[in-house]
Amino acid sequence: MTQSDKPVKSMGANTMWGGRFASGPDAIMTAINASIGFDQRLYAQDIAGSRAHAAMLAACAIITDGDAEAIREGLLTVLSEIEAGKFTFRTDLEDIHLNIESRLTEIVGEPGKRLHTGRSRNDQVAVDFRLWVRDQCDAAIQGLTTLMQAFLTQAEAGADWVMPGFTHLQVAQPVTWGHHMLAYVEMLGRDRSRFADARKRMNESPLGAAALAGTGFPIDRHMTAAALGFDRPTANSLDSVSDRDFALEFLSASAICATHLSRFAEELVIWSTAQFRFVKLSDKWTTGSSIMPQKKNPDAAELLRSKIGRILGATVALFTVMKGLPLTYSKDMQEDKEQVFDAADTLMLSLAAMTGMVSDTTANREALKTAAASGYSTATDLADWLVRALGLPFREAHHVTGRLVALAESKGCDLPDLTLVEMHSAHTGITQEVYSVLGVENSVRSRVSYGGTAPDQVRAQIARWKATLA
Ligand code: ARG
Repeated sequence: MTQSDKPVKSMGANTMWGGRFASGPDAIMTAINASIGFDQRLYAQDIAGSRAHAAMLAACAIITDGDAEAIREGLLTVLSEIEAGKFTFRTDLEDIHLNIESRLTEIVGEPGKRLHTGRSRNDQVAVDFRLWVRDQCDAAIQGLTTLMQAFLTQAEAGADWVMPGFTHLQVAQPVTWGHHMLAYVEMLGRDRSRFADARKRMNESPLGAAALAGTGFPIDRHMTAAALGFDRPTANSLDSVSDRDFALEFLSASAICATHLSRFAEELVIWSTAQFRFVKLSDKWTTGSSIMPQKKNPDAAELLRSKIGRILGATVALFTVMKGLPLTYSKDMQEDKEQVFDAADTLMLSLAAMTGMVSDTTANREALKTAAASGYSTATDLADWLVRALGLPFREAHHVTGRLVALAESKGCDLPDLTLVEMHSAHTGITQEVYSVLGVENSVRSRVSYGGTAPDQVRAQIARWKATLA
């Protein structure tokens, strides 16, 4: 190549793709177009993808081994520059892909310019983002496992502690603390499996789909897929560069999980009030008031109650971006990243905070028990006894019990405080034996159906979960 053969670039046009452009973009265009401000978080995934791609290009004799080696070394230098905070991210180079490729070429020269053979930024961003979201699925699974263990520890300590079970936030029937904690273990277990399931589905490599149609270069997509830990390459190049359903699945699973966290957070807020006194929150997860010296506010729980708003917001935002987009890639899709980054950060912080709070919360066993006995919580036990001992149809037993509840209410006492004579005003067949089912301890011990609140059932479920999580 002589001096005069060299390609001429117009002033101001993008150095990476500006061949056909006479001038550079408007400053505001640069601002709206650039993603480097946020997609620099994908630097490690971008470098991993490029290393796999370069090694494959050499193995398929599309570039020389020497070029591949220069690229490999150069990418390692770029990686260390970024990690040392010495890398200058340039907005005029739009995104992480062009920033890294441009710097690579500055370092290694011509081999750097050969890296983009047989690929496009469209498959590049798709592979980078999948790798990132895949890591977040792993982090969520890890965070959930730790949180489930914290709930299990609580469940084990209080497998037979009696507390009120609620419907409509009205006292319904006595349950055990362990049973209530295990309800969350079940929810979080399903969250965990949702992330594992999404991860399995997203674990296909879009790299090599190129711009949208695949490439004429004799690339080996199976090789790059394996190098990046994917199960296989994606099977349709158009789909590969244009869907973000893997991100939508991650966001959806995150939103469901955050909904579960929000419900327990709300219970902690209620339970820690002076009116309930079910739990004492640790100083580590509460704050004081600047004016009211007696206050201890459940701020962490309140924030956990609200984080779902942010995560669901991100989910709705990405669904809205993706709906109605014609195939294949459109720049709209650059709007995927900030939402997912924020949702993932929020979820991981929430899981960590909830784990800390669950571990540091102390249940007030006495208050739980007192509350369990309030509100005629063993009325169903009384009705069940009438069915079992006297052979009454359940509807009739329900009615008889209702009359006794009304009587107790008018006397301002609890069901076990009614005398046998008073019981007879509702049904003459009632015997002394009825008192044996009216205590809250008796009540929970009797709920032995599979998945019921009896302490033995609770212990069996704790053992099952411990084996699953081990
Ligand atoms: N920054 C872009 C994004 O995040 C990368 C892909 C750009 N592709 C393109 N053809 N302009 O979506």
